[in-house]
Order: sequence, then structure tokens, then C-alpha cells
Amino acid sequence: MADKIKEAYRASKNIYDDVITQGSLLSKLYIKIFWSGTDDNEIARKVLSYIPESFLGTILDVPVGTAVFTENKWRTLTESKIICLDYSEDMLEKAKQRLKDCSNVSFIQGDVGNLPMEDNTYDIVLSMNGFHAFPDKEKAFRETNRVLKTGGKFIACLYIKGKSSLSDWLVNTILSKKGWFTPPFHTEEELIKILEHMYKDIDIHVDGSMVYFCCTK
Ligand SMILES: C[S@@+](CC[C@H](N)C(=O)[O-])C[C@H]1O[C@@H](n2cnc3c(N)ncnc32)[C@H](O)[C@@H]1O
Repeated sequence: MADKIKEAYRASKNIYDDVITQGSLLSKLYIKIFWSGTDDNEIARKVLSYIPESFLGTILDVPVGTAVFTENKWRTLTESKIICLDYSEDMLEKAKQRLKDCSNVSFIQGDVGNLPMEDNTYDIVLSMNGFHAFPDKEKAFRETNRVLKTGGKFIACLYIKGKSSLSDWLVNTILSKKGWFTPPFHTEEELIKILEHMYKDIDIHVDGSMVYFCCTK
């Protein structure tokens, strides 16, 4: 499973940014057909707006991917300490190149299911488009919660099943087979139950087959 994920992201590292940001006509068409037009750029903007402009503190960005969505935000938070973690060396390398001049940002190759960090370390854990890719979601929820300080914010966006039969079909027949997504996936109701068990003040929004939220440990 782990090798399949690394291989999938190695193979797509040069087209990833274009597809997720709808940089070409083909990727616009792909999003329009399979994702009911849900715009990842817009979701990213809403997710990042949960982090105040003047934020001072520690942030874990997991998985950072290529940092296509977080680069600009991390550049403005010069007084924050930001750790970016990803399982794929290829995706992480892209993020490193993007942010190489930012002394407030550092990088770790690792597994969200086994984070090499102390308990209660971070003020914010950000997980954009990660949970639908993580193979062990229970461990990922546990680990991201463990490293978050009490009172800290867990902010994320991810795919949920059961909202669009076309998105679900694509996820099950292509994206999961290739390793870009990894089952099992949660419904909105299942996700809310998990979050309610671990967090309070849950602000959650559904946009097509995607959900984004901010909650407090
Ligand atoms: C869809 S990308 C999202 C990247 C970025 N956050 C974004 O929104 O563009 C999913 C990422 O999850 C990473 N990933 C998959 N399994 C992981 C794991 N167990 N631990 C850490 N990262 C993982 C992949 O390497 C990939 O870079």
C-alpha cells in the first residue's frame, strides 16, 4: 500500500498542481465532469482563511504535497514555526523547492500515522486533501489529535463519499486503484461523529463531494 501511494504521487508530481488548480482546459473539464465543478482553489482559500493573517505559533502542514495551496500563506506567516510533512519524497521535494527561502518553514518525510513529534506540540494542524489519501485514517485522526495542543485548531478538507455517484465512481474505480486515494472513505455523518468524539466548536461545510472544517481540541 505504502509503495503504491509513493508510486502514484511520483508519477503525478509534474501534473499534480495543474490538475488540482485547474490550470488547463482539460483539468477544468475533469473537475466539471467528475467533481460537479467543486473548485479546490476556493476550498483551499476558505480553509486557509481559518488561520489569521497575524498568526504567531506552531503549525503542522500534513500532508504538504507540493505546497501548491499553502506556499503563499506560509510566506506571510514569518513569525510562525511551520513544519511540513509528507510521505512522498517526490511531492515533498517540490514543496521544499517552492519554500526554500523561508527560514520559518521546515520539512520532514514521514507517515501521518506515526508522527515523529511530542504530544501537545502544535497550535494548528492543517490537513488539506490528506485524509482521503491516508491508508490508516484511524491512526491519522489519532496522531494529528495527539500532537495538537489542547485548545489548538484542527483544520482540514477532504473527500466524503455519498454525495455524487460520479465522484464516488471515479474514486473507487480509478483514483483508489492508482493510489491517489485510499479507502475506506467516510460519509459526512461518519466524519462528524469522529470529529465530535475528539473536538469541540466544529465548523463544518460541505461543497459537492468535499468537506472542509475547523475545530478545537
Ligand atoms: C492529494 S495530495 C494533497 C497534498 C496537499 N495538501 C494539497 O492539498 O495539494 C495527498 C498527499 O498525501 C500524502 N500522503 C499519503 N499517505 C500519507 C501518509 N501516510 N503520511 C503522510 N502523507 C501521506 C501523499 O504523498 C500526497 O502528497
